This record gives sequence, C-alpha cells and structure tokens, in this order.
Amino acid sequence: MHKMIDFSDITFFTSLLGDRCLTDIDILREYGHDETEDFVFPADVVLKPETVEEVSKIMKYAFDNSIIITPSGARTGLSGGALPIYKGIALSMERFNKILLIDEKNHQVTLEPGVITEVLQNTVKEKGLFYPPDPASKGSCFIGGNVSENSGGPKAVKYGVTKDYVLNLEVVLPNGEIIWTGANVIKNATGYNLTQLIVGSEGTLAIITKIVLRLIPHPTTDLLMLVPFFDAQKACEAVAAIFRAGITPSALEFMERDALIYTQKFINEDSVVVGDNHAAHLLIEVDGFDNDILMQDCEKIMSVLENFETDEILFAESQAQKDSLWKIRRKCAEAVKSQSIYKEEDTVVPRYELPQVLFHVKRIGEQYGFKSVCYGHAGDGNLHINILKGDLTDNQWENELPKAIRELFTEIVKLGGTISGEHGIGLVQKSYMDIAFSEVSLNLMREIKNVFDPKGILNPGKIF
Ligand code: LAC
Ligand code: ZN
Repeated sequence: MHKMIDFSDITFFTSLLGDRCLTDIDILREYGHDETEDFVFPADVVLKPETVEEVSKIMKYAFDNSIIITPSGARTGLSGGALPIYKGIALSMERFNKILLIDEKNHQVTLEPGVITEVLQNTVKEKGLFYPPDPASKGSCFIGGNVSENSGGPKAVKYGVTKDYVLNLEVVLPNGEIIWTGANVIKNATGYNLTQLIVGSEGTLAIITKIVLRLIPHPTTDLLMLVPFFDAQKACEAVAAIFRAGITPSALEFMERDALIYTQKFINEDSVVVGDNHAAHLLIEVDGFDNDILMQDCEKIMSVLENFETDEILFAESQAQKDSLWKIRRKCAEAVKSQSIYKEEDTVVPRYELPQVLFHVKRIGEQYGFKSVCYGHAGDGNLHINILKGDLTDNQWENELPKAIRELFTEIVKLGGTISGEHGIGLVQKSYMDIAFSEVSLNLMREIKNVFDPKGILNPGKIF
C-alpha cells in the first residue's frame, strides 16, 4: 500500500527544497494536467529539485515511505504520462534546464532533461549541428519528456525518432541510486541496452537527470511543397509510391480537408485555398546540402504524383511561406481540440498500408456514428486520428466508443502496425495494450517494471 502524504513529509521536503516544495491548490492543479483531453489530477505536493542529489534524496525518502512520485516535464504530453493520477508527489524537472556541454569534436551534446527541445535545436544549430526530432510542441516541450515518450515529429521519416539520438542517460532509480545507463558512444554491444529501455518508458522506471545525444551536420537547404488531392485515400497511396521512386523526403505529412480548414480558421490564416473538391493534402519537404539535387528530387516526386489525381501543387517560395505552411501543420492538434471534446489516436502501420488505415477509420466511424479528422506523419505510416464527440451522447462516448477504438486497433495490428507511434500509452491507451501484446509479453514488461520499482511508487497506473 502507498502512503498518503502528511505534514511530516511536507516538513521533510521543505527542509530539503525550501520554497521549491509547493502545496498551493492553484499550483497543484497547474501541474495536474498536460495536453491530454481535459484531464486534471492534482498531486498532493509539487517538488522542484535542482540537482541530482536532491532527486536522489527525494526518491529515497519516497521509497522508504512508499510515497507515489510522478515525474513531470513541460506537460505537453498527449497520452497522460505526466498526470499524477494517484496524487502523491509531482516531481517537476523544470529546474534541470541547462545545456551542459556541446562536444563539437564528437558531435554530441550533454544536457539536462528540462531543456526545451527547440532551444536545444537552435543552440546546436549555431555550431552547424542538427538535432532532428521535432514534435509539434517543440517550442515548449522538454527533451526529458521527448526521451520518456520516444517522441517523433515530421523529421522522423528521414532522420529517426528520439531513441535514434540518445546515447547515454544519467538516471535516479526508485530507491534513490544514481547510475549511468551506457556510454557516450555510437556503437555499444556491451550488455543489455539499459539506455534504450529507459527511452520511451514514460517515467515508470527511473528519473532522467542527464542526457547525452548524438548530433549530425545541419542541412543547409530545403524545399517544401503542398499537394492537394481529390481523394484522401489516394493521397495516402501516393506516400509509399514516393519512397519507392527512391526519394526519402525530410517530411511527408498528411492533412485531411477538415484538419486544414479548422487549423486555418483557428490561427486566422487563409493562405491555402481549400477547393470544394480537395479531400486531403500532402506537405512534402526535401532537405540537404545542394539545391540542384533537391530540385531533381522534387521533379521525381512530381512525376510520381502524375499517377495520382492532384490539383495544382504549391511550392513555397520564401522562408515566410515555408514557416506559414509548417505553422498550419503544427497547429492541427490544437485547432482540432478547440472544435469539440475529442480523443486522439496515434496509430502507426508500415507506410504502404496507410490507405487501409484511413479506410477502416471512416468505415468504423460510420458504423459507430463518429466524425474523425485525420492528419499526421504519413511518411512514417503514423496517423493522428482525432475522434470528435460532436453530437454523440455521453453513453455513446463512454461506452460505445471504446469498442470502436478496439475494433480499429485490431485492424491496425492486423496490418502489421501498433497503437502508438510517438505519443506513448500513458493513461489513455493502456486498456488496449492486450491488442498489441500477448499476456506473456505484457508479463515480461511488468516484471521489468518490478525489478526497477519493486514498491510500484514511480508513475503507477501508466502503460499497464
Ligand atoms: C502532431 C502531434 C499531435 O503531429 O503529434 O501534430
Ligand atoms: Zn505527431
């Protein structure tokens, strides 16, 4: 059993952290939500440690007293990983906000988990270096959250996701011990890969206090085009065809008609004219170091697209136009969220199967009477499926919709895909884990959790 926080615990935390131990109800509510639906789960106390030693002392105290801890970053997550659903401590890592070392000789950076992803990107760019993973929330999310959820973003299609850049981690275990998980090397065949076990573990195994990432040379040029399709499924079909022509775009994003319309309205933008017969758009970017090569890539892409029915292709002519197209894509989630109570799914399949995903989403939507708005990282086969509550009754929403989602996920797994590509399982997808994994596999995961966290104090109620 876990212990409720009482006055003596608060006295201990205050003696350790001073005014970085917070119990004000407004603060507890603020740290009680992330970007997942409209959930709010206030903890009993918010702690803001600044050093690994402080984290270790907090963990040891929590371990000895069986107090629940939920690690918290920028709270931009979309699966509820940072929600303190069982109260206890919300452990905010926001004070860990330093880039400690940019190792230009080795193309590496060592930093703390509370650094904003875009701040990291801009800082290393000044040295000609590139950290590619770029979730939609890159301007506010923390790198520690990205590591915990194994975040992706548009660039993943060419450059990979967060896991592909994490070399080594300093973490605090639930009993307070501090370890490094690996070494600062590109190749490592030494024992089990503890580093990658922590990546994507959603704050359930250990608290990340330092991160070593690999970097690559920053591309110097890119081209961006927006392609309107008359048929959304055909847009999805074009995706695999582009890759099969030998092109790897640096981004290949899909936006269904309503995603584009809602978003332009939401951000007061009308630069993209959405024709009555436009069912979906692909936003395609190529990047590199040589403009002539990129032009050739675009020509190849256009010759692939000739086999699909598209309307006039828009080429971004200036950085401002590129920025505005990217802003539209990046704001889709917020825009759709502003429309209605919603649920966001994050399904992923091998990319050739993407048209099938859209087909099943619409088929199941018709059967259960829900409207969906889809957009996402088509090049990765990763579709964000936003299900709007609209006119559904509370009963349909709470009792019927989970059946529809189960049906959809079952189709996804049959297609060789899985439930989450980049948002994680957290709270909102955990009841579907049996679709993706057998009981044997789930038990292995539970046993791993138990080895790290035998008292179950670290972010319980997530993933399983
Ligand atoms: C995006 C977020 C929702 O791709 O993952 O916009
Ligand atoms: Zn996404």
